[in-house]
Amino acid sequence: MTRVLVIGSINMDMVVNSPTMPRLGETLSGSGFATYPGGKGANQAVAAARLGAQVSMIGCVGRDAFGAGLKAVLAHEGVDTRWVSEVDIATGVASITLCGSDNAIIVVPGANHALQPAQLDAAEQAFADADVVLAQLEVPLATVEHAAMLAARHGKPFVLNPAPAVALPAALLARVSVLTPNEFELATTLASPQPWRELVAAAAGRIVMTHGADGAFFAVAGGQLQHQPGFAVTPVDTTGAGDTFNGALATFLHLGLAEAVRRAAAAGALSVTQPGAQGGMPTLAALDTFLQEHAA
Ligand code: RIB
Ligand code: NA
Repeated sequence: MTRVLVIGSINMDMVVNSPTMPRLGETLSGSGFATYPGGKGANQAVAAARLGAQVSMIGCVGRDAFGAGLKAVLAHEGVDTRWVSEVDIATGVASITLCGSDNAIIVVPGANHALQPAQLDAAEQAFADADVVLAQLEVPLATVEHAAMLAARHGKPFVLNPAPAVALPAALLARVSVLTPNEFELATTLASPQPWRELVAAAAGRIVMTHGADGAFFAVAGGQLQHQPGFAVTPVDTTGAGDTFNGALATFLHLGLAEAVRRAAAAGALSVTQPGAQGGMPTLAALDTFLQEHAA
């Protein structure tokens, strides 16, 4: 069983369904409202746990009803929450407008920005105990850099999903084992005008670029570009598809990059068939069945 350590955000997603995206100053009548557990860190932790990984999470929630509820959800999914702290800042929220299966998201980090490097030091044993460390960029960059340093200290692969995108310091990039941007995040993260194909090819085995319903691209030794096609599904809600991909990629990384990417693409596809970021994330059994049905 793979042991995955996730460092990242925990949010409550407030989702409204809208017929079109509102324009500035416009008021629209929506057709539904729901709250779902979310946050890129929590989503990736849940994705890995559903797939059978033994998952620990380091993060922060507020000392409020959302925080208590979200921590309980993580525990219910089998995620070890002993390193999730409660702080006196409101739990992170995401305001999500769903229009068809597309979305627009405003994240208010709140408690997630209270996750400091010292909290990682206090949980250093979790790095020693992990097989792979997984992070995103919804917590302070200094904390992500510290996570990369601790992963390196303990000789563990460090998977970084650079979302939301910011230009990353070279020292951090040097410590990333696998970077998992989408096309836009790749350009921003590397602050490079080079075409994505060249960037992916130049970082053989170290960049997996997701491409929505089209699957993912990576390169093998020698720089030859590989395309993992997307799996055809009927999308209901694409929120969290990338997170599902990342949780699965970390879980299956020990099988080699091509197989991990194949399984991650399938898990991501399944996730969009149910509402909510964590709805639709497959169990290991569900993923196996889906892959058998879609075997070439
Ligand atoms: O990646 C999707 C997630 O991004 C949502 O769950 C929301 O909380 C935002 O953090
Ligand atoms: Na979903």
